[in-house]
Amino acid sequence: MSLPKIDPTSTNAWKKLQEHFQSMKQVHMKNLFAQDPNRANKLTLEWEDFYVDFSKNRLSEETLSLLFQLAKEVNLEVAIKSYFSGEKINETENRAVLHTALRTKKNDSISVDNEDVVPEVFEVKKQIEVFTNQILNGSRKGYTGKPFTDIVNIGIGGSDLGPSMVVSSLEFYKNHLNTHFVSNIDGDHVNEVIKKLNPETTLFVVVSKTFSTQETLTNAQTIKEWFLSKNFGTKQQDISKHFVAVSTNIKKAKHFGINQDNIFPIWNWVGGRYSLWSAVGLSISLSIGFENFSKLLLGANKMDTHFKTESFDKNLPVILALIGVWYNNFFKTETEVIVPYSQYLNKFSAYLQQSSMESNGKSVDRNGKAITYQTGSVIWGQPGTNSQHAFFQLIHQGTKLIPADFIGFSKSLHGNKEHQDKLISNFIAQTEALLSGKTKEVVLKELQKQNLSTEEINRILPYKVFDGNKPTNSIFINKLTPESLGKLIALYEHKIFVQGIIWNIYSFDQFGVELGKQLAGNILEKMKKNSFNNHDASTLNLLHYYKNLT
Ligand code: F6P
Repeated sequence: MSLPKIDPTSTNAWKKLQEHFQSMKQVHMKNLFAQDPNRANKLTLEWEDFYVDFSKNRLSEETLSLLFQLAKEVNLEVAIKSYFSGEKINETENRAVLHTALRTKKNDSISVDNEDVVPEVFEVKKQIEVFTNQILNGSRKGYTGKPFTDIVNIGIGGSDLGPSMVVSSLEFYKNHLNTHFVSNIDGDHVNEVIKKLNPETTLFVVVSKTFSTQETLTNAQTIKEWFLSKNFGTKQQDISKHFVAVSTNIKKAKHFGINQDNIFPIWNWVGGRYSLWSAVGLSISLSIGFENFSKLLLGANKMDTHFKTESFDKNLPVILALIGVWYNNFFKTETEVIVPYSQYLNKFSAYLQQSSMESNGKSVDRNGKAITYQTGSVIWGQPGTNSQHAFFQLIHQGTKLIPADFIGFSKSLHGNKEHQDKLISNFIAQTEALLSGKTKEVVLKELQKQNLSTEEINRILPYKVFDGNKPTNSIFINKLTPESLGKLIALYEHKIFVQGIIWNIYSFDQFGVELGKQLAGNILEKMKKNSFNNHDASTLNLLHYYKNLT
């Protein structure tokens, strides 16, 4: 069975939402709160250790019920079933989309092409567990018999962003291994990482689903050459002690020189940007131990069950996705900002950029037709409070409407209550300021207390007024743990899925990335031959300019 292919703009709900938007677009949230003293309670959901308050949004109960109607009319329910059951919903690549199978229970059964994939998933998990334990207890050693002290993950895109985000986020749970990430093809980046490493005690994990990505293969090759050059006596067989791979392409990984036993398989039904739950997360397991890695998976599995079984009006990913659609398609917002109030989550928005923008940055619908409405938002952000001193000015007083997700944890991991109280006061205060703004009357009173002339007051007053009415979702989680992080990541994964279904696009391919790769290959060939033709004038100038300087 394929995914529903319903143009959202053809639904009754969409038409009603358009009319309803006319009556909502000027409404200030302050009035919505004033009209309904119970608004905050009604528009907050508590689930496990999550408290999600979506009351500070420019919507009413009617908006929500129309959005739920939209989800029903585009057959979201059917799509969710297809997603979890292993149907080939990535139709443009003829693949199932089963990152959820990577965190499912052992007694589940999910089939792709009539074959249950769960036993294989658990076999590979066992391989990850055994390998992790051997590295951590020192029984697997480097070529001079020393235990490993450092791991380098070599990968890019989904083979880098997920693992590196999780390793940073769970730094508190890290063991003695130092974890490094090499992703960019920038040779300076590679050299900066390897210059600090001792080849005798470093393990390299080459992560590439396809094992054909230029950046990863070039970086792995450079590092392999560096390793062999450091290893006096240069023994090719030492490679097998220090290089492992994660890939669907066992043949190419072996050809690179990696021992068959050191290749961790993944499957083509795991999308790169959804792969951290698979052996792509090997560097996570190595960094925080297999037990913690399992807890991350458990958290995601709990969110999967919530998403799959809960009615839409209590379903966190569905609600957050629909709110995003409301702003994107009716208020015509362009971006969404993600602001975690935790420095541990400093890579979270960069991670979501890929998972969301590579998934939903599409302009052809599931019927093959050009789309006439907006699809994926631009995702960006930085942790608070740093971001308050960087880009919050524009959110508060700029001309653009930017919906924001605030993410915070009640407990600090190191238990510094004073800092935590200050951090979370900022989180809450910002959502309040974005909602309420600062009226002319309040500004006037403040200025009058300052002993200024009337002329001076009138001059300065307009600059100090904040309209407010800026939307936020507050995602409050008890504590940052592997399990709660797993839930949070899965929450956004499913939000992306729901939005893709509503927008009638294919969220699991990424053909837009291919053209640049092809052209870079052509240009590189021409650079080698020093012969350039068939380019536009600007490209030609750039090529000549670069060539003349090198
Ligand atoms: O950026 C395109 C992309 O295909 C991503 O989807 C993927 O995560 C990344 O490249 C890396 O691919 P691979 O794991 O095959 O090296």
